[in-house]
Amino acid sequence: MDKKKVVYSGIQPTGCLTLGNYIGAVSNWLTMQDEYDCLFSIADLHALTVRQVPADFRKTALRFFAQYLAMGLDPKKSILYFQSHVPQHAELTWILNCFTYVGEASRMTQFKDKSQKHLDNVNMGLMDYPVLMAADILLYQSDLVPVGGDQKQHLELTRDIAMRFNNLYSPTFVVPEAYIPKQGAKICSLADPTAKMSKSDPDANATISIIDSPEEIINKIKRAVTDSEPHVAYSEDKPGISNLLTIFSAVTGRGIDSLADEYRDKGYAAFKSAVGEAVVEKLRPVRAEFERLSADKDYLMSVAREGAERAQRIAYKTLAKVYRKVGLVER
Ligand code: TRP
Repeated sequence: MDKKKVVYSGIQPTGCLTLGNYIGAVSNWLTMQDEYDCLFSIADLHALTVRQVPADFRKTALRFFAQYLAMGLDPKKSILYFQSHVPQHAELTWILNCFTYVGEASRMTQFKDKSQKHLDNVNMGLMDYPVLMAADILLYQSDLVPVGGDQKQHLELTRDIAMRFNNLYSPTFVVPEAYIPKQGAKICSLADPTAKMSKSDPDANATISIIDSPEEIINKIKRAVTDSEPHVAYSEDKPGISNLLTIFSAVTGRGIDSLADEYRDKGYAAFKSAVGEAVVEKLRPVRAEFERLSADKDYLMSVAREGAERAQRIAYKTLAKVYRKVGLVER
């Protein structure tokens, strides 16, 4: 049998995991678990490129890990771990730094944006962010990387670094490809339906956390920004209603057209309460499982430890190969 393809992805543990992360990213990861050898990390080292409050950060990272499991990522199928638990990420980053040009790193859109946003803290890590991401991906000889639009440029850089290294030495890294999911629904902010739902949005009404209570979910959807034309329809000039239809469709598995037909003349209030109920039902088991797992820290830590051990075994092989190729004396 052919070797399964390797899939790698991660999320930074900042803010809270949202319905957008669940529908847009993790739901695809869930189906990939059966077909591929998957690794999903909590990208905690990446999150340090902006200031974190240590005690909060630690709690948030653990909550994200519990939520990975609660959403259905399965340690029996995939390798689930904290990036910082596998030292090879930092080690390979150093080597790859020596094969990345300052020019290309400083041209990254995200670096330029984040530098503008944090003028008082334009640290080296911010510029090195995509190189750490390249190390994440290349350590495991990943074939496929599911990423959203904002990370495509980083994946391109990863490919450039991999090809550069392979050409200078000999084939060492698999050159990864972006994985574009078959149905990749992009979920937008409830407060500004022209912007992506962001887990670090300071406006709590803009996002739905995957562990919000039923009342919070219903209320947030009730308050979601729409328009004053009364018909429920999916169209460009109705971004708020279109976003709610996208959510409705994603959580029920029904087509957008059939939902739009059914609710066309029912009024926004009835439509919004139906969307709210459907989201509540979809997230109910996730929230229950999150609560159950949160009470069992020993179990969570044992899963994390096992994930890190499995990841390290693979990462070590790649790193040893790289060290040999660049001419470092063997340990
Ligand atoms: N930078 C990604 C994000 O913010 C998270 C991430 C870190 C990642 N390492 C990765 C994604 C490796 C894909 C592969 O969304």
